[in-house]
Amino acid sequence: MLVLGIETSCDETAVGVVEDRFTLRSNVIASQVELHAPYGGVVPEVAARAHLEALLPTIDRALVEAGCGLSDVDAVAVTSGPGLIGALLVGVSAAKGLALAHDKPLIGVNHLRAHVEVAQLEHGELEPPLAALVVSGGHTSIVALGEDGRFRQLGATIDDAAGEAFDKIARFLGLGYPGGPEIDRLARQGDPHAIAFPRAMRADPGYDVSLSGLKTAVVRYLRRLEAAGQEPDLADVAASFQEAIVDVQVDKTLRAAADQGLERVVLAGGVAANSRLRARFAEACGQAGLGLLVPSVPLCTDNGAMVAASGANLLAAGHLAPLELGVDPNLPL
Ligand code: KG4
Ligand code: ZN
Repeated sequence: MLVLGIETSCDETAVGVVEDRFTLRSNVIASQVELHAPYGGVVPEVAARAHLEALLPTIDRALVEAGCGLSDVDAVAVTSGPGLIGALLVGVSAAKGLALAHDKPLIGVNHLRAHVEVAQLEHGELEPPLAALVVSGGHTSIVALGEDGRFRQLGATIDDAAGEAFDKIARFLGLGYPGGPEIDRLARQGDPHAIAFPRAMRADPGYDVSLSGLKTAVVRYLRRLEAAGQEPDLADVAASFQEAIVDVQVDKTLRAAADQGLERVVLAGGVAANSRLRARFAEACGQAGLGLLVPSVPLCTDNGAMVAASGANLLAAGHLAPLELGVDPNLPL
């Protein structure tokens, strides 16, 4: 069974093909990073227009790389939410057109679930009970996948998403966009324990997190140095900021796993590409005797293969979407 997956929820026009739920046949991304970089963030209107231009050529490339044609595909899967409404509409409209014209089943995919389920392409069937940390530009949550195959949210950020915090601080430090990879790179030359930034809600019994205070603390620290006429060590700032985010995510996720009897941890979403987050989870899960499933970096950030993988699961379970499929910018997990 071949599933074509279309992803246009944010700033990547991405298409992938997955065979029999677990085999990646192709994964093509037309990135819009350069278009949005001058604005320091994604401009929704610009994103929607760019998707419109890039989508059909990206579908063609993904099919060529997969060595198949549209007639060979068994279903067309598309992200229907959450995301930017105009951006989502481009993908969903195209998917409907393809499904109708080629008489293929249509499948509506949840972007957040897809970030988690992409792990099956490299790690095989995701065996519950497991905890997934979903950390992206728009989301930060800890979810549990139960024996019943359902995802349950255990906790989430009460303010900024982790990726949003990375991007905002990077902009403040004068680094490029998107900020996450820039901070990751710079932090490698810094001392993660140089500056004691706050770890809000770390000791709270629940699994919610708060990241906006950390952002404010970094800004205040830099302004204080500036007022005193001192030069900050930006690598130390980046490393210490990153460590504060990572500390909280590791603590909360491992505690959720221990409390809820979850046996494995999946890291998902763009921030799961962060090298320090990956290293610290590897260490902590090793010590706690938990399995750790981490997708390779290109499968962490937005991509079409994740939509195809999640779509293949839905196809296998018989969950098809009607041609009236709508988009939902706030679709919950
Ligand atoms: O999942 P994603 O590609 O798009 C959304 O669904 O939001 O995540 C994008 C986010 C951006 O905020 C980006 O800065 C962050 O992931 N990111 C990283 C790294 N690579 C991407 N954050 C920290 N370290 C990285 N290496
Ligand atoms: Zn995403």
